[in-house]
Amino acid sequence: MTVIRSQLIGTGYKLPAKVLTNDDLSKMVETSDEWISTRTGIRSRHIAEKDELTSDLSYDAAVMAIKNAGIKNEEIDFIIVATVTGDTTFPATAAKLSKKLGLLPGTPAMDVNAACSGFVYASQIADNMIRLGQVKTALVIGAETLSKITDWTDRNTCVLFGDGAGAAIFRAAECAGTKDDTGVLATKIYADGSQFDHLCSDSGVSLNQKAGFIHMDGKEVFKIAIPSLVQGVEESLKIAGLEVADVDWYVPHQANLRIIDSVAKKLEIDMDKVIVTVDHHGNTSAASIPLALAEAFAAGKIKKGDVVAVSAMGAGFTWGGMIIRV
Ligand code: ACO
Repeated sequence: MTVIRSQLIGTGYKLPAKVLTNDDLSKMVETSDEWISTRTGIRSRHIAEKDELTSDLSYDAAVMAIKNAGIKNEEIDFIIVATVTGDTTFPATAAKLSKKLGLLPGTPAMDVNAACSGFVYASQIADNMIRLGQVKTALVIGAETLSKITDWTDRNTCVLFGDGAGAAIFRAAECAGTKDDTGVLATKIYADGSQFDHLCSDSGVSLNQKAGFIHMDGKEVFKIAIPSLVQGVEESLKIAGLEVADVDWYVPHQANLRIIDSVAKKLEIDMDKVIVTVDHHGNTSAASIPLALAEAFAAGKIKKGDVVAVSAMGAGFTWGGMIIRV
């Protein structure tokens, strides 16, 4: 029996032009390139200008993804943006983009807030809508300007984050309904609200009418990130009917190279098969996975037929995984 599956037909990304190195940071707070790179693997990150908005980064990433997919803007019939740094409290950044991209009136547009897991959450929503036949071509974006909620006097957090956007186009196609199909073969998402306080903004619209700064208990996040990222891959592989040995590329959330190394070891995935961008992107939250995916496609690493495993973990805590055969 044939089934509908979401095919990944194009990806794109945008990084702000401004680069902030570890040496630059060591002139702003008491830190060093040595401390940052040995503990996190981060060497530099991109930082948006004051007037460079999440929607601007999203737009450029979307245009690249649309071009790579070889479709017209008006073929998109659903747009979803994963972000915790939308341009305005409301409406959704996706609605602003819909206008900027000239999508047909009536095209549904929404944002999703699942922090660093946002792209996996948004992809699951898009994939479910595609498989139900409600949508044919979905534009899924992860985009952040975390620099705007970073306390640049706090060395515990300011060395970790960066700005950017990644975009993916998923399109419905009939498939045989086996584990050898192309397209999204599995998605799985989770949350545990009891961990809310370990990684959060210290402010909010309802709380005190401010955006606030990122607050993080790094050691707690570190501990929980590793098993969560492992579970994201293992559980979604199970749903897909595949095994670790079938994975050609692993695209983890890019928070910290030590976390990525540990997860790859636990999964027994060789680091040669792991896409790493945290060294030059830092942690870009919801943008991290689509940015890494799009860079890997642009570099010709991921090829037609490859099985890509994705897993993410972030504030909430939220986490999850996804398996795609491209
Ligand atoms: N430069 C120099 N020293 C620093 C810096 C800095 N930028 N930041 C903290 N320190 C100091 C601390 O103050 C502390 O000093 P003290 O012992 O005198 O108090 C010392 O370095 C050790 O700090 P630790 O917190 O023990 O360092 P740790 O080895 O845990 O590394 C880190 C910190 C990198 C944040 C780590 O805990 C981590 O990676 N956690 C995961 C969190 C993460 O990746 N978060 C991203 C968001 S979450 C997500 O995306 C999933």
